[in-house]
Amino acid sequence: MLVSVSDIYQKKIKLNSSITIKGWVRSKRSSKIGISFIHLYDGSHLSPIQIIAEKRLSNYKKEILSLTTGCSIIVKGKLVSSYGKKQENEIYADDIKVIGWIENPETYPLSLKKHTNEYLRSIPHLRTRSNFFTAINKIRNCLFHALHTFLNKKKYYWVPTPIITAINAEGAGSMFRVSTFDFQKIPKKKLGEVDFSKDFFGKETFLTVSGQLTAETYACAMSKVYTFGPTFRAENSNTKRHVSEFWMLEVETSFSNLFDLSKLIEEIFKFSINQVLKNCLPEIIFFEKKYKLKIIEKLEKNLNEKIIEVEYSEIIDILKKIENNFSQPIFFGLDLSIEHEKYIVDKYFNSPVMIKNFPKEIKAFYMRLNNDNKTVASMDMLVPGIGEIIGGSQREERLFILDNRLAELKLKKENYWWYRDLRRYGTVPHSGFGLGFERLLQYITGIDNIRDVIPFPRTVRNSDF
Ligand code: 4AD
Ligand code: MG
Repeated sequence: MLVSVSDIYQKKIKLNSSITIKGWVRSKRSSKIGISFIHLYDGSHLSPIQIIAEKRLSNYKKEILSLTTGCSIIVKGKLVSSYGKKQENEIYADDIKVIGWIENPETYPLSLKKHTNEYLRSIPHLRTRSNFFTAINKIRNCLFHALHTFLNKKKYYWVPTPIITAINAEGAGSMFRVSTFDFQKIPKKKLGEVDFSKDFFGKETFLTVSGQLTAETYACAMSKVYTFGPTFRAENSNTKRHVSEFWMLEVETSFSNLFDLSKLIEEIFKFSINQVLKNCLPEIIFFEKKYKLKIIEKLEKNLNEKIIEVEYSEIIDILKKIENNFSQPIFFGLDLSIEHEKYIVDKYFNSPVMIKNFPKEIKAFYMRLNNDNKTVASMDMLVPGIGEIIGGSQREERLFILDNRLAELKLKKENYWWYRDLRRYGTVPHSGFGLGFERLLQYITGIDNIRDVIPFPRTVRNSDF
């Protein structure tokens, strides 16, 4: 019977059963009397299972004694209760087949017991083998399903929005270009400008910064939709919370306003945390021990408390009181930077916060103008240790106001023709948000650097894979 390490820990396998298990050597210790203790992992459980290999095995001297960390093996044997105190059960091996050797154990990049996360980032194809990355990816997987499950239960439809796009969905910010031009021979017009009509799509195209605008087309037909996929930003932001390729969940609801939006965000946030605590407790405990943080207590507190909601103008008043602590003056209209966000969530509230109604000048063109003509019906959710993890708003559904905003921001109306059509034909108040998936993962696990929660981080000058 083929079993996994987790089957054994979950007590799905009866003692004395004959089993086969496949995996890799985490560590091996051999005694002088001819017994080797092999710790095997297969990714299904954070703790390895101990294999007892005795010298009676035909390949004991030739192979078993030479096994090193990382070798892949198939073990046939019996599940028995362990003599040792460190583990409850172990496998008494009848046969161990070595499948893959480690070429040169001394130079194997993971030969040391402990490695820094910085070092591991340089070998993303091998860091997958450490408990850290198994644990984070399990939580990632759980969170991914939690978000889909929640939205499915709430009768939201998933819609995959395009990754290649001709417009900047945020109206600003750098994008990655998509082109099939030969860089040595870029077609030019008479005056020297690039002739994009000769490019693959016959116009300039980019990788999307957000699926929101296209998701809105479906929200204006199916009422409740979401998109969840990779998103690309070419900003030169070398911080612990920025990557150039990240995953974003974007939810869009018709006949919904800012109040409905914050209610939905609170529900989805709590549901995801609950699912992770329910399904990934060993992994959370792993990070709790590693970082000596009270992660479970923090998450349980989040589940039991209502998320604080506060106006942007109140935030400015709070920051103004300690203005001298910041590198620049505090005023209404200020775009909050990391230092401000940190003060608000880490020190002042020490809790997640939803900040509402930002000045229009610092927000995207599609956000709905409030009656004060100064602010937009927007909402950012900030969490301790990270800052912004969600950005959302009610959308401007009135065509003439949208057109004014496009003009103010010098965005070409023609480029947004189909987005404007949604306002011309059966327009409807609607709202939505975008959740930075990796940032939520960072918050839940306490992992400081976003590059350690995404399998293959893409950042400035870093995309070997
Ligand atoms: O606030 P943002 O830019 O909002 C939007 O893109 C909207 N279109 C969303 C919507 O309303 N549908 O981005 C949303 C979230 C941020 O709050 C942040 O968590 C994450 O995406 N994010 C990043 N995460 C990692 N690396 C980056 N460079 C990120 N930029 C944004
Ligand atoms: Mg934002």
